[in-house]
Amino acid sequence: MQIHPMWATYPDLQPELQATLELIQQQIKTDNQPVNAAILDLINAGGKLLRPAYCLLFSQFKPTDRSKMIALAAAIETLHTATLIHDDVIDQSPIRRGVTTIQTQFDLPTAVYAGDYLFVVCFQLLSNYASSLRSVQQDGKSMADILNGELAQMATRYHLDMTIDQYLKQVSGKTGQLFALSSFIGAYESGQSLRFSRNSEKIGLNIGIAFQLLDDILDYTSNTDTIGKPVHNDMRQGVYSAPLIFGMNQDPQIKVLLQKQTAMTDAETAEVVARVHAAGGVDQARDMAAEYTNKALKAIDKLPDMPARQTLHQLTAALLNRNV
Ligand code: IPE
Ligand code: IPE
Ligand code: MG
Ligand code: MG
Repeated sequence: MQIHPMWATYPDLQPELQATLELIQQQIKTDNQPVNAAILDLINAGGKLLRPAYCLLFSQFKPTDRSKMIALAAAIETLHTATLIHDDVIDQSPIRRGVTTIQTQFDLPTAVYAGDYLFVVCFQLLSNYASSLRSVQQDGKSMADILNGELAQMATRYHLDMTIDQYLKQVSGKTGQLFALSSFIGAYESGQSLRFSRNSEKIGLNIGIAFQLLDDILDYTSNTDTIGKPVHNDMRQGVYSAPLIFGMNQDPQIKVLLQKQTAMTDAETAEVVARVHAAGGVDQARDMAAEYTNKALKAIDKLPDMPARQTLHQLTAALLNRNV
């Protein structure tokens, strides 16, 4: 199984990411064949491996045991994959990475157990390979923050007065924390000081927030074939993201349309999308993503002058212009 083609231009990273993916594949061994098959289908469907990439990059500022770092990168990607499986259950999403989601292809229990199993694999890898208990504690904290971000999002569903600050808080939890954790563990487990590692964590958080903003922008500018998952699902389910929040603030008619909630027709959804674009909601969200990216880039440029710094800069800048 070859990793995502985007890594062809990152020769310092590609072999380690390939090894990360292979290690994850080797870990999938429940006693239940359909569960194994379901997990392997998703793993082999070509995720971007961004979180392990940041873990590996932040570990490259010091010479360190590379097989340990690959195992920790695998732990993080496994955690990410578990959250995706459960996210698609919660969001009732039929497609991920261009393939049918587990609960759609198999059934709901298979999807829940598949996600559970990946949490187990994450814990096993982390506890077997981390040198410091602090990394395990950090993982626990991040998982709590991710959950709280999701819970806050659930609590504000269909809230037409949802603010951008509320959105940012939810996003730093549900997405930012995993990028922050990856960056922290990469640094800390490679033997960096707590100060260096906290700085890496902060950089990761800003990258993660920018990443989710882009994901939410793609929901308005792309299509299912390109991004491999449904578009406009969030809006129908009352999850109001940055482009929509900015749009609502400019164009009151958007709120009138959204009031129909699940009864919105396809034509009304399309009208909201058009109005969000016309009101500058997508542009404003893009500006905000650029702001978070620039914050991260500024801090990256202050890291020690080593090849990993340049790669971190290149990757983080490229993500702002991504279309997948
Ligand atoms: C999807 O993350 C979930 C979000 C935080 C938006 P990715 O876009 O990194 O998912 P894969 O792993 O590449 O499929
Ligand atoms: C991303 O969730 C964050 C987690 C999976 C915890 P979303 O629901 O916003 O992401 P997509 O669009 O399904 O990938
Ligand atoms: Mg979700
Ligand atoms: Mg989702």
